[in-house]
Amino acid sequence: MAQHTAPSGHEKIETSNFLMIVLILLAVAVGGIVEIVPLFFQKSTTQPVEGLKPYTALQLAGRDVYIREGCYNCHSQMVRPFRSETLRYGAFSLAGEYVYDHPFQWGSKRTGPDLWRVGGKYSDEWHRIHLINPRDVVPESNMPAYPWLETAMVDPESLAPKMNALRKVGVPYTDDDVKGAAEAVKGKSELEAVIAYLQGLGLLVK
Ligand code: HEC
Repeated sequence: MAQHTAPSGHEKIETSNFLMIVLILLAVAVGGIVEIVPLFFQKSTTQPVEGLKPYTALQLAGRDVYIREGCYNCHSQMVRPFRSETLRYGAFSLAGEYVYDHPFQWGSKRTGPDLWRVGGKYSDEWHRIHLINPRDVVPESNMPAYPWLETAMVDPESLAPKMNALRKVGVPYTDDDVKGAAEAVKGKSELEAVIAYLQGLGLLVK
């Protein structure tokens, strides 16, 4: 005959919703903390790679267009450390390359190719044609066209406040960078800005 005793030990936990929820949350929290906290102190994740510079005013404007247009919905910016990736895109990404990226554009959706090592891969002219109508250079492309970028102008006054905000989170813009920002983007189209941004991506690690 089966004996009926009060649940004890593990059975007690498994038969209690409350204990189950609290202990799972605790296990996940401890596991998370153990993985995440060291990253804030490791040199390899907090130190910029050698030669890393903040985005120029024009690149920064381009980066904002990239975010506004939702390019990240189809493009990641992180080359994973696998042979299939490095053969296709180049050197895998290092955390130190992204220290001045706020927020990161790593992404995970790849309808199009990863863009982290796209800097210098094509000419400015290729990008110009490609962004205005991708089919003109890649006939089978299903990337949307962005023709309005050619006539939309970068707002020169928008740059200094952005740079000052980035300074607050540790991007080392100098006073001169901020002062010269408006002048640096004056008369530039959003298309030129995005191209400047793309051409600067991922150049530091070969
Ligand atoms: C709907 C998905 C989609 C969106 C949104 C998108 N792309 Fe693409 N992109 C693609 C696809 C697919 C390709 C590959 C075919 C081609 O080269 O056009 C591509 C290719 C590229 C390439 C060439 C990469 C290489 O290594 O050959 C660049 C650069 C690029 N996209 C930039 C952008 C930028 C900048 C934006 C935002 C303004 C953007 N894309 C938005 C899908 C997208």
